[in-house]
Amino acid sequence: MSILLTGGAGFIGSHTAVEMINAGYDVIIADNLSNSSEKVLDRIETITGIRPKFYKVDVAIKGDVRRIFEENKIDGVIHFAGYKCVPESTKIPLKYYRNNIDTTLTVLEVMEEKNCNAFVFSSSATVYGDKNEVPFNENMPTGGTTNAYGSTKLMIENILKDVAAANNKFSAVLLRYFNPIGAHPSGLIGEAPDGIPNNLMPYITQTAVGIREVLNVFGTDYNTPDGTGVRDYIHVVDLAKGHVAAIKYAMENTGAEAINLGTGNGSSVLEVVRAFEKASGVNVPVEFKERRPGDVEYSYASVEKAAELLNWKAEYDLNDMCKHAWNWQKKNPRGYNE
Ligand code: NAD
Ligand code: UD1
Repeated sequence: MSILLTGGAGFIGSHTAVEMINAGYDVIIADNLSNSSEKVLDRIETITGIRPKFYKVDVAIKGDVRRIFEENKIDGVIHFAGYKCVPESTKIPLKYYRNNIDTTLTVLEVMEEKNCNAFVFSSSATVYGDKNEVPFNENMPTGGTTNAYGSTKLMIENILKDVAAANNKFSAVLLRYFNPIGAHPSGLIGEAPDGIPNNLMPYITQTAVGIREVLNVFGTDYNTPDGTGVRDYIHVVDLAKGHVAAIKYAMENTGAEAINLGTGNGSSVLEVVRAFEKASGVNVPVEFKERRPGDVEYSYASVEKAAELLNWKAEYDLNDMCKHAWNWQKKNPRGYNE
Protein backbone atom coordinates (compact mmCIF):
# COMPACT_ATOMS: atom_id res chain seq x y z
CA MET A 1 0.00 0.00 0.00
CA SER A 2 1.37 3.46 -0.98
CA ILE A 3 0.88 6.50 1.21
CA LEU A 4 1.80 10.04 0.15
CA LEU A 5 3.39 12.18 2.87
CA THR A 6 3.21 15.85 1.92
CA GLY A 7 5.82 17.72 3.97
CA GLY A 8 7.36 14.32 4.72
CA ALA A 9 10.92 15.68 4.88
CA GLY A 10 10.06 17.79 7.94
CA PHE A 11 10.35 17.04 11.65
CA ILE A 12 7.16 15.04 12.18
CA GLY A 13 6.93 13.80 8.57
CA SER A 14 10.41 12.22 8.62
CA HIS A 15 9.67 10.32 11.84
CA THR A 16 6.34 9.22 10.39
CA ALA A 17 8.07 8.05 7.19
CA VAL A 18 10.28 5.77 9.32
CA GLU A 19 7.33 4.31 11.24
CA MET A 20 5.25 3.87 8.07
CA ILE A 21 8.13 2.00 6.38
CA ASN A 22 8.59 -0.11 9.52
CA ALA A 23 4.89 -0.97 9.34
CA GLY A 24 5.31 -2.18 5.73
CA TYR A 25 3.91 0.75 3.72
CA ASP A 26 5.46 2.19 0.57
CA VAL A 27 6.16 5.82 1.40
CA ILE A 28 6.20 8.65 -1.13
CA ILE A 29 7.37 12.05 0.08
CA ALA A 30 6.39 15.34 -1.60
CA ASP A 31 8.18 18.32 -0.10
CA ASN A 32 9.50 21.61 -1.48
CA LEU A 33 12.23 21.65 1.22
CA SER A 34 11.18 25.16 2.30
CA ASN A 35 11.81 24.09 5.91
CA SER A 36 13.76 20.85 5.57
CA SER A 37 16.75 19.17 4.00
CA GLU A 38 17.07 16.49 1.36
CA LYS A 39 19.64 14.81 3.65
CA VAL A 40 16.67 13.50 5.63
CA LEU A 41 16.18 10.93 2.87
CA ASP A 42 19.65 9.44 3.46
CA ARG A 43 18.95 9.27 7.16
CA ILE A 44 15.58 7.56 6.67
CA GLU A 45 17.34 5.05 4.42
CA THR A 46 20.04 4.43 7.04
CA ILE A 47 17.42 3.77 9.73
CA THR A 48 15.02 1.61 7.70
CA GLY A 49 17.11 0.25 4.82
CA ILE A 50 14.56 1.72 2.41
CA ARG A 51 14.73 5.05 0.59
CA PRO A 52 11.33 6.65 0.16
CA LYS A 53 10.43 7.88 -3.31
CA PHE A 54 10.84 11.67 -3.29
CA TYR A 55 9.24 14.50 -5.27
CA LYS A 56 10.68 17.97 -4.73
CA VAL A 57 7.47 19.87 -5.42
CA ASP A 58 5.25 22.58 -4.01
CA VAL A 59 2.04 20.71 -3.19
CA ALA A 60 -0.02 23.83 -3.86
CA ILE A 61 0.72 23.29 -7.55
CA LYS A 62 -1.97 21.06 -8.96
CA GLY A 63 -0.07 19.77 -11.97
CA ASP A 64 2.75 18.53 -9.76
CA VAL A 65 0.43 16.78 -7.31
CA ARG A 66 -1.50 15.23 -10.21
CA ARG A 67 1.74 13.87 -11.65
CA ILE A 68 2.50 12.10 -8.36
CA PHE A 69 -0.92 10.44 -8.45
CA GLU A 70 -0.46 9.49 -12.11
CA GLU A 71 2.95 7.92 -11.52
CA ASN A 72 1.91 6.02 -8.38
CA LYS A 73 -1.19 4.33 -7.06
CA ILE A 74 -1.77 6.36 -3.91
CA ASP A 75 -4.00 4.73 -1.27
CA GLY A 76 -3.98 7.58 1.23
CA VAL A 77 -2.41 10.95 2.09
CA ILE A 78 -0.93 12.29 5.30
CA HIS A 79 -0.80 16.05 4.91
CA PHE A 80 2.01 17.65 6.92
CA ALA A 81 2.99 20.35 4.42
CA GLY A 82 2.49 23.85 5.76
CA TYR A 83 4.17 26.66 7.62
CA LYS A 84 4.22 26.48 11.43
CA CYS A 85 6.01 29.50 12.87
CA VAL A 86 3.48 31.20 15.15
CA PRO A 87 5.18 34.63 15.56
CA GLU A 88 5.87 34.86 11.82
CA SER A 89 2.21 34.08 11.15
CA THR A 90 1.16 37.13 13.14
CA LYS A 91 3.53 39.33 11.07
CA ILE A 92 2.88 37.81 7.63
CA PRO A 93 -0.58 36.24 7.92
CA LEU A 94 -1.19 36.00 4.18
CA LYS A 95 1.86 33.78 3.73
CA TYR A 96 0.30 31.34 6.20
CA TYR A 97 -3.25 31.49 4.86
CA ARG A 98 -1.97 31.10 1.28
CA ASN A 99 0.36 28.16 1.88
CA ASN A 100 -1.55 26.20 4.51
CA ILE A 101 -4.99 26.51 2.90
CA ASP A 102 -3.80 26.32 -0.71
CA THR A 103 -1.77 23.12 -0.22
CA THR A 104 -4.73 21.49 1.50
CA LEU A 105 -7.26 22.48 -1.19
CA THR A 106 -4.95 21.37 -4.00
CA VAL A 107 -4.25 17.97 -2.45
CA LEU A 108 -7.96 17.44 -1.71
CA GLU A 109 -9.02 18.38 -5.26
CA VAL A 110 -6.51 15.99 -6.80
CA MET A 111 -7.55 13.23 -4.40
CA GLU A 112 -11.16 13.75 -5.48
CA GLU A 113 -10.18 13.59 -9.18
CA LYS A 114 -8.22 10.39 -8.57
CA ASN A 115 -10.79 8.81 -6.24
CA CYS A 116 -8.40 8.64 -3.29
CA ASN A 117 -10.41 8.97 -0.09
CA ALA A 118 -8.21 8.55 2.99
CA PHE A 119 -6.73 11.74 4.45
CA VAL A 120 -4.88 12.46 7.69
CA PHE A 121 -4.31 16.08 8.66
CA SER A 122 -1.74 17.67 11.01
CA SER A 123 -3.94 19.79 13.22
CA SER A 124 -2.97 21.23 16.59
CA ALA A 125 -4.17 21.54 20.17
CA THR A 126 -4.18 25.27 19.43
CA VAL A 127 -7.74 24.81 18.02
CA TYR A 128 -9.01 24.42 21.61
CA GLY A 129 -8.25 28.12 22.19
CA ASP A 130 -8.10 29.52 25.72
CA LYS A 131 -11.66 28.99 26.99
CA ASN A 132 -11.75 25.23 27.58
CA GLU A 133 -10.83 23.37 30.77
CA VAL A 134 -8.08 20.75 30.72
CA PRO A 135 -7.94 17.93 29.79
CA PHE A 136 -9.06 19.00 26.32
CA ASN A 137 -11.39 16.49 24.73
CA GLU A 138 -12.54 16.29 21.14
CA ASN A 139 -16.18 17.21 21.93
CA MET A 140 -15.20 20.61 23.30
CA PRO A 141 -15.91 23.68 21.19
CA THR A 142 -13.00 24.85 19.08
CA GLY A 143 -12.15 28.46 18.23
CA GLY A 144 -10.59 31.52 19.81
CA THR A 145 -7.25 30.95 18.08
CA THR A 146 -4.84 33.79 18.80
CA ASN A 147 -2.71 33.78 15.64
CA ALA A 148 -3.00 33.22 11.89
CA TYR A 149 -1.19 29.86 12.10
CA GLY A 150 -3.77 28.53 14.56
CA SER A 151 -6.60 29.97 12.49
CA THR A 152 -5.41 28.07 9.40
CA LYS A 153 -5.63 24.82 11.41
CA LEU A 154 -9.18 25.65 12.48
CA MET A 155 -10.23 26.61 8.95
CA ILE A 156 -8.76 23.43 7.48
CA GLU A 157 -10.54 21.29 10.08
CA ASN A 158 -13.82 22.92 8.97
CA ILE A 159 -13.01 22.38 5.29
CA LEU A 160 -12.40 18.69 5.96
CA LYS A 161 -15.67 18.32 7.88
CA ASP A 162 -17.55 19.86 4.93
CA VAL A 163 -15.80 17.64 2.39
CA ALA A 164 -16.54 14.52 4.46
CA ALA A 165 -20.19 15.56 4.82
CA ALA A 166 -20.53 15.95 1.04
CA ASN A 167 -18.67 12.80 -0.03
CA ASN A 168 -19.70 9.63 1.75
CA LYS A 169 -16.59 7.77 0.55
CA PHE A 170 -14.19 10.33 2.03
CA SER A 171 -12.46 9.92 5.37
CA ALA A 172 -10.43 12.53 7.25
CA VAL A 173 -8.66 12.12 10.57
CA LEU A 174 -7.84 15.50 12.11
CA LEU A 175 -4.94 14.76 14.42
CA ARG A 176 -4.67 17.41 17.12
CA TYR A 177 -1.05 17.27 18.18
CA PHE A 178 -0.11 18.48 21.63
CA ASN A 179 3.62 19.34 21.99
CA PRO A 180 5.85 17.02 19.94
CA ILE A 181 9.47 16.93 21.13
CA GLY A 182 12.36 14.47 21.17
CA ALA A 183 13.96 12.72 18.22
CA HIS A 184 14.51 9.27 16.78
CA PRO A 185 16.56 7.22 19.30
CA SER A 186 19.26 6.73 16.62
CA GLY A 187 20.01 10.47 16.66
CA LEU A 188 19.84 10.46 12.85
CA ILE A 189 16.66 12.51 12.45
CA GLY A 190 15.26 15.24 14.67
CA GLU A 191 14.01 18.81 14.82
CA ALA A 192 16.19 21.29 12.94
CA PRO A 193 14.74 24.79 13.37
CA ASP A 194 15.95 27.52 11.07
CA GLY A 195 17.32 30.43 13.16
CA ILE A 196 16.24 31.13 16.73
CA PRO A 197 13.84 28.41 17.93
CA ASN A 198 10.37 29.47 19.09
CA ASN A 199 9.57 26.23 20.84
CA LEU A 200 10.81 25.17 24.24
CA MET A 201 12.76 21.93 23.63
CA PRO A 202 14.94 23.08 20.71
CA TYR A 203 15.70 26.24 22.68
CA ILE A 204 16.77 24.12 25.66
CA THR A 205 18.98 21.80 23.58
CA GLN A 206 20.60 24.73 21.73
CA THR A 207 21.31 26.40 25.08
CA ALA A 208 22.81 23.18 26.44
CA VAL A 209 25.06 22.78 23.41
CA GLY A 210 26.22 26.41 23.68
CA ILE A 211 24.50 27.97 20.65
CA ARG A 212 22.25 30.09 22.95
CA GLU A 213 23.35 31.64 26.24
CA VAL A 214 20.25 31.39 28.36
CA LEU A 215 16.73 30.00 28.20
CA ASN A 216 14.01 32.61 28.70
CA VAL A 217 11.15 31.21 30.77
CA PHE A 218 8.02 33.05 29.66
CA GLY A 219 5.74 33.71 32.62
CA THR A 220 6.15 32.73 36.27
CA ASP A 221 2.75 33.84 37.58
CA TYR A 222 0.46 31.29 35.98
CA ASN A 223 -1.95 29.49 38.26
CA THR A 224 0.11 26.28 38.06
CA PRO A 225 2.13 24.48 40.78
CA ASP A 226 5.38 26.36 40.00
CA GLY A 227 3.90 29.34 38.13
CA THR A 228 5.16 28.32 34.67
CA GLY A 229 2.99 27.13 31.76
CA VAL A 230 1.94 23.48 31.58
CA ARG A 231 1.95 21.46 28.33
CA ASP A 232 1.46 17.88 27.19
CA TYR A 233 4.86 16.98 25.68
CA ILE A 234 4.77 13.92 23.46
CA HIS A 235 7.68 11.98 21.96
CA VAL A 236 7.77 12.48 18.19
CA VAL A 237 8.19 8.71 17.63
CA ASP A 238 4.97 8.04 19.57
CA LEU A 239 3.31 10.78 17.52
CA ALA A 240 4.59 9.15 14.32
CA LYS A 241 3.13 5.80 15.36
CA GLY A 242 -0.19 7.58 15.91
CA HIS A 243 -0.15 8.45 12.19
CA VAL A 244 0.35 4.81 11.21
CA ALA A 245 -2.79 3.99 13.20
CA ALA A 246 -4.66 7.03 11.83
CA ILE A 247 -4.10 6.32 8.13
CA LYS A 248 -5.24 2.72 8.68
CA TYR A 249 -8.35 4.07 10.41
CA ALA A 250 -8.95 6.53 7.55
CA MET A 251 -8.71 3.74 4.97
CA GLU A 252 -11.23 1.60 6.87
CA ASN A 253 -13.81 4.28 7.79
CA THR A 254 -15.61 7.32 6.38
CA GLY A 255 -16.43 10.74 7.83
CA ALA A 256 -14.31 13.29 9.68
CA GLU A 257 -12.90 12.50 13.14
CA ALA A 258 -10.83 14.83 15.30
CA ILE A 259 -8.44 12.87 17.51
CA ASN A 260 -5.97 14.17 20.10
CA LEU A 261 -2.40 12.88 20.07
CA GLY A 262 -0.93 13.57 23.49
CA THR A 263 0.14 11.68 26.59
CA GLY A 264 -2.55 13.01 28.90
CA ASN A 265 0.14 14.36 31.28
CA GLY A 266 1.06 18.00 31.79
CA SER A 267 4.58 19.23 32.58
CA SER A 268 5.59 22.78 33.47
CA VAL A 269 8.45 24.62 31.78
CA LEU A 270 10.61 24.23 34.88
CA GLU A 271 9.82 20.51 35.10
CA VAL A 272 10.99 20.10 31.51
CA VAL A 273 14.19 22.04 32.23
CA ARG A 274 14.92 19.85 35.28
CA ALA A 275 14.13 16.64 33.40
CA PHE A 276 16.45 17.75 30.60
CA GLU A 277 19.28 18.59 33.03
CA LYS A 278 18.91 15.15 34.65
CA ALA A 279 18.81 13.27 31.32
CA SER A 280 21.76 15.18 29.82
CA GLY A 281 23.88 16.01 32.84
CA VAL A 282 24.14 19.57 31.45
CA ASN A 283 23.06 22.70 33.30
CA VAL A 284 20.63 24.99 31.45
CA PRO A 285 20.78 28.62 32.67
CA VAL A 286 17.35 30.29 32.81
CA GLU A 287 16.08 33.84 33.02
CA PHE A 288 12.53 34.59 34.08
CA LYS A 289 10.57 36.82 31.69
CA GLU A 290 7.09 38.23 31.13
CA ARG A 291 4.38 35.94 29.77
CA ARG A 292 4.53 35.37 26.00
CA PRO A 293 1.43 36.84 24.30
CA GLY A 294 -1.05 34.18 23.16
CA ASP A 295 0.16 31.49 25.58
CA VAL A 296 -2.37 29.51 27.59
CA GLU A 297 -1.88 28.45 31.20
CA TYR A 298 -2.59 24.75 30.82
CA SER A 299 -2.82 22.46 27.79
CA TYR A 300 -3.05 18.70 28.01
CA ALA A 301 -5.04 16.06 26.23
CA SER A 302 -7.79 13.66 27.00
CA VAL A 303 -6.39 10.51 25.38
CA GLU A 304 -9.40 8.15 25.49
CA LYS A 305 -10.57 8.71 21.93
CA ALA A 306 -7.18 7.85 20.43
CA ALA A 307 -7.05 4.68 22.54
CA GLU A 308 -10.57 3.70 21.51
CA LEU A 309 -10.54 4.50 17.78
CA LEU A 310 -6.86 4.06 16.94
CA ASN A 311 -5.83 1.55 19.60
CA TRP A 312 -2.88 3.85 20.19
CA LYS A 313 -1.28 5.41 23.22
CA ALA A 314 2.00 7.18 23.88
CA GLU A 315 4.72 5.06 25.46
CA TYR A 316 7.82 7.20 25.93
CA ASP A 317 8.16 9.39 29.04
CA LEU A 318 9.64 12.86 29.55
CA ASN A 319 13.06 11.43 30.40
CA ASP A 320 13.15 9.56 27.03
CA MET A 321 12.06 12.72 25.21
CA CYS A 322 14.87 14.74 26.81
CA LYS A 323 17.48 12.01 26.32
CA HIS A 324 16.66 11.60 22.63
CA ALA A 325 16.41 15.34 21.96
CA TRP A 326 19.87 15.75 23.52
CA ASN A 327 21.33 12.78 21.60
CA TRP A 328 20.11 14.38 18.33
CA GLN A 329 21.39 17.86 19.25
CA LYS A 330 24.84 16.58 20.28
CA LYS A 331 25.27 14.52 17.13
CA ASN A 332 23.93 17.29 14.86
CA PRO A 333 24.72 20.63 16.54
CA ARG A 334 23.80 22.49 13.35
CA GLY A 335 20.92 20.28 12.33
CA TYR A 336 21.35 18.83 8.84
CA ASN A 337 23.79 21.63 7.84
CA GLU A 338 27.02 19.70 8.04
P1 NAD B 1 8.22 21.10 9.47
O1 NAD B 1 8.32 22.52 9.04
O2 NAD B 1 9.43 20.42 9.97
O3 NAD B 1 7.59 20.22 8.29
C1 NAD B 1 6.71 20.76 7.33
C2 NAD B 1 7.26 20.37 5.96
O4 NAD B 1 6.38 20.88 4.95
C3 NAD B 1 8.65 20.95 5.69
O5 NAD B 1 9.52 19.90 5.29
C4 NAD B 1 8.42 21.94 4.55
O6 NAD B 1 9.54 22.01 3.68
C5 NAD B 1 7.20 21.37 3.88
N1 NAD B 1 6.37 22.34 3.14
C6 NAD B 1 5.88 23.52 3.55
N2 NAD B 1 5.14 24.08 2.58
C7 NAD B 1 5.16 23.23 1.52
C8 NAD B 1 4.60 23.25 0.21
N3 NAD B 1 3.86 24.29 -0.21
N4 NAD B 1 4.83 22.19 -0.61
C9 NAD B 1 5.59 21.15 -0.20
N5 NAD B 1 6.15 21.08 1.02
C10 NAD B 1 5.93 22.11 1.87
O7 NAD B 1 7.06 21.03 10.58
P2 NAD B 1 6.63 19.83 11.52
O8 NAD B 1 6.94 20.22 12.91
O9 NAD B 1 7.11 18.55 10.99
O10 NAD B 1 5.05 19.94 11.36
C11 NAD B 1 4.34 19.20 10.39
C12 NAD B 1 2.88 19.63 10.43
O11 NAD B 1 2.36 19.47 11.74
C13 NAD B 1 2.67 21.10 10.06
O12 NAD B 1 1.46 21.21 9.33
C14 NAD B 1 2.52 21.76 11.42
O13 NAD B 1 1.76 22.94 11.35
C15 NAD B 1 1.80 20.69 12.20
N6 NAD B 1 1.99 20.80 13.65
C16 NAD B 1 3.27 20.82 14.16
C17 NAD B 1 3.44 20.94 15.54
C18 NAD B 1 4.82 20.97 16.15
O14 NAD B 1 4.95 21.27 17.34
N7 NAD B 1 5.89 20.67 15.41
C19 NAD B 1 2.33 21.03 16.39
C20 NAD B 1 1.05 20.99 15.83
C21 NAD B 1 0.90 20.87 14.45
C1 UD1 C 1 3.30 26.60 20.20
C2 UD1 C 1 2.18 27.31 19.49
C3 UD1 C 1 1.22 26.29 18.90
C4 UD1 C 1 1.96 25.36 17.95
C5 UD1 C 1 3.12 24.72 18.69
C6 UD1 C 1 3.99 23.94 17.75
C7 UD1 C 1 1.91 29.46 20.56
C8 UD1 C 1 1.04 30.30 21.41
N1 UD1 C 1 1.51 28.21 20.41
O1 UD1 C 1 2.76 25.84 21.26
O2 UD1 C 1 0.20 26.96 18.19
O3 UD1 C 1 1.08 24.35 17.48
O4 UD1 C 1 3.95 25.73 19.30
O5 UD1 C 1 4.64 24.75 16.82
O6 UD1 C 1 2.93 29.91 20.05
N2 UD1 C 1 8.58 28.58 26.53
C9 UD1 C 1 9.51 29.24 27.29
N3 UD1 C 1 10.65 29.65 26.66
C10 UD1 C 1 10.90 29.45 25.34
C11 UD1 C 1 9.92 28.77 24.57
C12 UD1 C 1 8.77 28.36 25.21
O7 UD1 C 1 9.33 29.45 28.49
O8 UD1 C 1 11.96 29.88 24.83
C13 UD1 C 1 7.35 28.08 27.21
C14 UD1 C 1 6.06 28.64 26.65
O9 UD1 C 1 5.72 29.84 27.26
C15 UD1 C 1 5.08 27.49 26.96
C16 UD1 C 1 5.97 26.23 26.84
O10 UD1 C 1 7.31 26.69 27.00
O11 UD1 C 1 4.61 27.57 28.26
C17 UD1 C 1 5.85 25.51 25.50
O12 UD1 C 1 6.07 26.46 24.45
P1 UD1 C 1 6.22 26.00 22.92
O13 UD1 C 1 7.21 24.91 22.83
O14 UD1 C 1 6.47 27.23 22.12
O15 UD1 C 1 4.80 25.37 22.57
P2 UD1 C 1 3.32 26.00 22.70
O16 UD1 C 1 3.35 27.41 23.06
O17 UD1 C 1 2.54 25.10 23.60
